[in-house]
Amino acid sequence: MAREMILVLDFGGQYNQLIARRVRENNVYCEVHTALSIEKIRELKPSGIILTGGPQSVYASDSLLPPVELFELGVPVLGICYGAQAMAHVLGGEVKPATVSEYGRTEVEVVGASKLFSSVEKNSVVWMSHTDRIVTAPENFSVTAATNNCPIAAMEDPDKNFYAVQFHPEVVHTVEGKKIFSNFVDICGVARDWKMSSFVVDTIKQLKNKIGGGKVLCALSGGVDSSVAAVLLSKAVGKNLTCVFVDHGLLRKNEAAQVEEAFSKFDLNFIKVDAGERFLSKLRGVVEPERKRKIIGEEFIRVFEEVSKKIGAVDYLVQGTIYPDVIESGLGKSAVIKSHHNVGGLPDFVDFKEIVEPLRLLFKDEVREAGRELGLPEEIVSRQPFPGPGLGIRIIGEVTAEKVKLVQDADAIYREEIDKAGIKHLAQYFAALTNMRSVGVMGDGRTYDFAIALRAVLTSDFMTAEAAQIPWDVLSRAANRIVNEVKGVNRVLYDCTSKPPATIEFE
Ligand code: XMP
Repeated sequence: MAREMILVLDFGGQYNQLIARRVRENNVYCEVHTALSIEKIRELKPSGIILTGGPQSVYASDSLLPPVELFELGVPVLGICYGAQAMAHVLGGEVKPATVSEYGRTEVEVVGASKLFSSVEKNSVVWMSHTDRIVTAPENFSVTAATNNCPIAAMEDPDKNFYAVQFHPEVVHTVEGKKIFSNFVDICGVARDWKMSSFVVDTIKQLKNKIGGGKVLCALSGGVDSSVAAVLLSKAVGKNLTCVFVDHGLLRKNEAAQVEEAFSKFDLNFIKVDAGERFLSKLRGVVEPERKRKIIGEEFIRVFEEVSKKIGAVDYLVQGTIYPDVIESGLGKSAVIKSHHNVGGLPDFVDFKEIVEPLRLLFKDEVREAGRELGLPEEIVSRQPFPGPGLGIRIIGEVTAEKVKLVQDADAIYREEIDKAGIKHLAQYFAALTNMRSVGVMGDGRTYDFAIALRAVLTSDFMTAEAAQIPWDVLSRAANRIVNEVKGVNRVLYDCTSKPPATIEFE
């Protein structure tokens, strides 16, 4: 039986993948495509079509417009922002530059009965971002919502199930956005039976078809994204996949063993390179943060290069690129090969034909869900972000084997205490080793040891962050255990700075 799907036609707007996400949240399968011909659209047999926002003007000579036949398929269509204007334009309405552009939060009023706005509050806040607007609705359309500066904030032809909204229901600032998507899904009449398990099954099938008997190489960092991508590939091509996991000796306590253990369960070639010594010797005497980062990044590539040379030419290279990475590096630049790599760049000469990025349409929490479906253990699936240079940038000053051990042990205790206290809302939390030594007293003796700094932040974008308030008893338990159990540490400090002016990591 053909799977029901909603097609998102992408006109280049910033929030387009969020639209797909809102549809998926309703357990409906959804695909995002750019500039499809009407033949292709027919082949996909969508149960509904969403036309996205985009930076163009419908009256520009080179504007991308949906084919008029799309409106003759007999399926519901929802136009959003540019998509709404494109619908108006193609169906005979009129679009003009707005006298007042609207950006950001705006009050909207629902002004007529509408299935799209069923159970939606009459007055609510929506997110606007437009310079053009619809001034005349096409024939048979009625206006269903308005704002102060936009008399046609929404319009529809209910007989044909055509709906258009000038605002962005996909962004969280549109208070009733989720309801609007849910209503559109109802209008499309699809069963809400798509799950992450279906994504996993379909992706494995697609990868099998694409790769066949080709040779695939994956650089594993042990992070969630590259791990999930690797396991998806292993399910598709088995032993034709080789995963290279470079242990630079700067991972958290037990992390390397966890990764190795997790991957031993899958049918793939797993190569772990113990390169701790090698990294430490390169880092000897180096204190400047940027130099440390560069050395670690460069050495990673050298190790990976050496292993790849032994493996020989590969057909495909796997990357764990996820959707936020795609947005950050600019849409439409998906061919840029090295910029998103989880481990910070790839050697130029690794000989491969194509990159595969099976997660490029997913958000982080969806990747975690896919990882659980694939049977990856929770320690890997729920792992918080960890920088490529690892503990190398959580040890201020020179990195030595002794200091790595100190910070690993302190960090493990801190994480254990946070876990035991059931604290789940932190975006990132860790211990760092300051370069400060100070006087203490233990037993009857004087100590002159290092201070550990504990950090915990709240953030969703990691560009800005605030220091989290950890309950005092949790902090105090962690501090006590650290000074008692980690020899060489006699003081524990808590970092209360936000970002900016600090950063999340210490270097
Ligand atoms: P900062 O310290 O810049 O960190 O506030 C923001 C987020 O990025 C992570 N981070 C890195 N991730 N390679 C990575 O893959 C790196 O070199 C790197 N440096 C920082 C950091 O852990 C935080 O989540």
